[in-house]
Amino acid sequence: MSLTGLLCDMPLLPWLRRTAAKVPLILVSNREPFVHHRTGDGLLVSAPAGGLTSALQPVMAQSGGTWVAWGSGSGDFDVTDPLDGVMVPPDDPRYRLRRLRLSACDLLGFYTETANRAIWPLCHSQLTRFVYDAAHWHTYRKVNERFAAAAIAEAKGRSAVCWVQDYQLALVPQFLRRVKSIFVHQFWHIPWPSPDILRVFPEARRLVAGLLGNHLLGFQTGNDVRNFLASVRRLFRDAVVEPAKGLVRLHGRRTAVRAFPISIDAEAFRAQAAHPDTEARAAELRARFLPGGGTLLLGVDRADYTKGIPRRLLAFERLLMDHPRLHGKVTLLQVAVPSRSEVPEYQAFEAEIAERVEALNLRHAQGPWVPVYLVRESLTQAEVTACYRAADICLVTPLQDGMNLVAKEYVASQEGKAGVLVLSRFAGAARELREAELVNPYDTGAMAAAILKAIETPEEERARRMAALRRRVHRHTIGDWMTDIFEEVERLRPRA
Ligand code: F6P
Repeated sequence: MSLTGLLCDMPLLPWLRRTAAKVPLILVSNREPFVHHRTGDGLLVSAPAGGLTSALQPVMAQSGGTWVAWGSGSGDFDVTDPLDGVMVPPDDPRYRLRRLRLSACDLLGFYTETANRAIWPLCHSQLTRFVYDAAHWHTYRKVNERFAAAAIAEAKGRSAVCWVQDYQLALVPQFLRRVKSIFVHQFWHIPWPSPDILRVFPEARRLVAGLLGNHLLGFQTGNDVRNFLASVRRLFRDAVVEPAKGLVRLHGRRTAVRAFPISIDAEAFRAQAAHPDTEARAAELRARFLPGGGTLLLGVDRADYTKGIPRRLLAFERLLMDHPRLHGKVTLLQVAVPSRSEVPEYQAFEAEIAERVEALNLRHAQGPWVPVYLVRESLTQAEVTACYRAADICLVTPLQDGMNLVAKEYVASQEGKAGVLVLSRFAGAARELREAELVNPYDTGAMAAAILKAIETPEEERARRMAALRRRVHRHTIGDWMTDIFEEVERLRPRA
């Protein structure tokens, strides 16, 4: 699920050929692309499934630069050189992975408390989940400074492009910007809230100042860009903000702010979906979850409170209550992949989903028919694609989401099929996937009605809308996303 790293076979992207030939690329992210584990059988290495890292891995393999990330594995430092670096991929070393040592105390303040209990809920406008503590913010700052110091050391005084990823590293750019020979770009993968929400955060000014260390700052949508520029205006009276040019000038520094909607390797999903094994597995799944035939609904999410799973369950239950004729003829398969289990809100949330599903099934199950199947584990990409093929309707109903790549993956997997995508208006993907059935995830009655509509839409109409969606997803892929970003880097770099 999520971003998949099937770019390995892609020809060298033109921007990569041009940029990497001139300057080294230094990627900075919290997660690392390869993790070494100590086990009873010795040292084992794994590549975390899905996620950002697997999508960026092939880019680094092609550019031969350096990747700076937290060394999270128990055996990570058994294989590193005296400067905490190791060449990867392990079976075909192409680039350097520089691992950062973080203590349990660092992780608590930086990752658990500030990134995931303060910045994450804030940016997803979930203020009842927002937790702030000044001591943890201090740790976040210190750890960000260490990420930046590692990247600077890796640049070794040469001109370099540093590509910083996401909300865990908001302050890294301000430290990097002190080094004149480094061009700093950051991509912010999650939403940016309105200034009225942002002002709840006591460190809002410092957060924004950190991001203004970037020469180029990328967001998922135009709306995020507008919110960010409005935040700068609100927090820095002396800033010059030019929305038409996507430009901020503050204290002699320029930051270009742009929207770069992220995407997927659409062709890889199409090919996986067309594989005979996928078709066979999809048939097995349908037979298992819908023994009497009917409509299979699907949800695939990290178990995260922003994904809207409880309200989705309420909508599904409403549908069952209002339309008893659907009993035994519609099943929801909900995949909820455990995530961030060290964060208290996530532990409670996982338990809440399990309880809600159990209660719903107790109220409505009849004979062999179980209304909701809950899968609480991470699935391989092949298995997720089989689920996409098996499902008649995919429910992607987050309360707020930067993009949501499940929506795009479902569409790319629908070649020759006429599935329906029910999509939250508050997912970044809704700005592109206009032919989806768009819903407000807070309105459970309207969501139930949208599911019913999806069930009853004639095949011809479903096929027409899905074909339009597929064209959109194939027109703008993960390769295009990276090309757009690095063409902009090349355009801006000479002036930086
Ligand atoms: O959506 C933001 C993100 O950080 C992704 O990049 C990542 O795949 C996912 O959340 C999981 O997050 P974590 O690194 O906290 O497990």
